[in-house]
Amino acid sequence: MVTATRPEQQVKIGPTKLLINNEWVNSVSGRRFETINPSTGEAICDVAEADAPDVDKAVQAARMAFTSGEWRQMSATRRGELLYKLADLIEQNIDELARLETLDNGKPLQNSYGDLGLVIACYRYYAGWADKVQGKTIPINGPYFCYTRHEPVGVVGQIIPWNFPLLMQAWKLSPALATGNTVVMKTAEQTPLSALRVGELIIEAGFPPGVVNLLSGYGPTAGAAIANHMDIDKLAFTGSTEVGHLVMEAAAKSNLKRVSLELGGKSPNIVFADANMDAAIEGSHQALFFNQGQCCCAGSRVFVEERCYDEFVAKSVERAQRRVVGNPFDEHTEQGPQVDKDQFDKVMSYIESGMREGAQMLCGGHSLGDRGFFIQPTVFTDVKDHMKIAQEEIFGPVMSIIKFKDIHEVIERANNTMYGLAAAVWTQDISKAHTIANNIRAGTVWVNCFDVFDAAAPFGGFKQSGMGRELGEYGLEHYTEVKTVTIKL
Ligand code: NAI
Ligand code: MG
Repeated sequence: MVTATRPEQQVKIGPTKLLINNEWVNSVSGRRFETINPSTGEAICDVAEADAPDVDKAVQAARMAFTSGEWRQMSATRRGELLYKLADLIEQNIDELARLETLDNGKPLQNSYGDLGLVIACYRYYAGWADKVQGKTIPINGPYFCYTRHEPVGVVGQIIPWNFPLLMQAWKLSPALATGNTVVMKTAEQTPLSALRVGELIIEAGFPPGVVNLLSGYGPTAGAAIANHMDIDKLAFTGSTEVGHLVMEAAAKSNLKRVSLELGGKSPNIVFADANMDAAIEGSHQALFFNQGQCCCAGSRVFVEERCYDEFVAKSVERAQRRVVGNPFDEHTEQGPQVDKDQFDKVMSYIESGMREGAQMLCGGHSLGDRGFFIQPTVFTDVKDHMKIAQEEIFGPVMSIIKFKDIHEVIERANNTMYGLAAAVWTQDISKAHTIANNIRAGTVWVNCFDVFDAAAPFGGFKQSGMGRELGEYGLEHYTEVKTVTIKL
């Protein structure tokens, strides 16, 4: 099927069924649901809707692949080759995948290409790890030879969100497959299409049946069935902190499956007066508005030192007003629509709450256009720490600027949140930069930059922003069990 509003926007829609055991199948119930183009609010197509019985089928396929099949006997080097092959196939189909991502998610096409660069790098990075995961020999007391093996955990359930559909799929699949696990993945109901197209490439790459199973479906049904399943050994989740609590509880109440969580954030972005001001203003703008503000690590509490506050505010407002919002397929577009009506409504309600609580709205505040879920880039100043817009994750194009006086005060205020995902500091003073880096309770601290991601650098949260780290060597830890073998000599 091809869909478009204009000829240059022609997008090829890939598979729309469930991928179980390398076959495209309808759901057991026969139900399907629509996925919406957020630029228009219209349906793109419908996809098969998984529920608990489909999760059961997928888990059976994954268990079979894990215990008895070709996958179990496959060499680590060969697993790496399959991941390299998948990366090559994604690269060969990059235009098609980028367009599909933009159609289903609404992100500007140039950002979809950016995501795909990271996707390809991530599969290649973990392809390289496949034959480098190894244990130790341990000099224990007595006449024994003791060593450890790092074995796959087993069947892994993975639940991903809609803000970076292809990238979240890559972050989850690549370490799991490099270490020899099998996967049942549920994509987000807002954005099922690109992951399914990658499913075709997974088959083409040569992954055996049952190793990767992809389900489209909703959270409280298919997602909960994964979290509660008695035959899933590990759960990896990315999404809201609220649902993070639910899936961890489900894991505890079912079979104590291992859990790793990447959750929400309210990241402090701290600007000192000694910073390179132009870089700080542009960097802070991107830190908040990138991806329509729909980033778990968005720099959503902008703390600005009193001495440069007025300049920072004036220039940030001017920059936000210049942000190009519109058709995500247009080359110059910087910001597309929010992903769906729910997110649009949520963001608009935070804008109302900011005004109600007495923050100053200096630009934006309204929706844009007569269809789709577009919101004007919005900047609030005079934001106080206790306001809802300074406490809760807005996940939209709404910047909150907060004034501070000195470094000790800003550290305390920046840490005064249940979240701890990321932080940034803009300064030319190396000692201030290190003091912030050492004292902010967050999984990532960027100094004079923001959103610098690399497959080799771990990412994850302190406090209620999550548990465990993805990416890098650290990202392998969730996907292996350590086995100790002791032999009498
Ligand atoms: P969500 O946490 O409900 O959705 C994320 C994933 O979890 C989706 O695949 C969803 O189907 C699944 N899910 C939902 N309920 C579930 C359940 N009971 N059991 C198992 N899986 C379940 O996030 P939602 O509703 O899309 O967005 C709400 C807010 O969450 C956003 O406004 C944002 O603040 C935050 N969020 C954070 C993300 C991040 O990257 N950390 C990503 C998406 C949302
Ligand atoms: Mg939800």
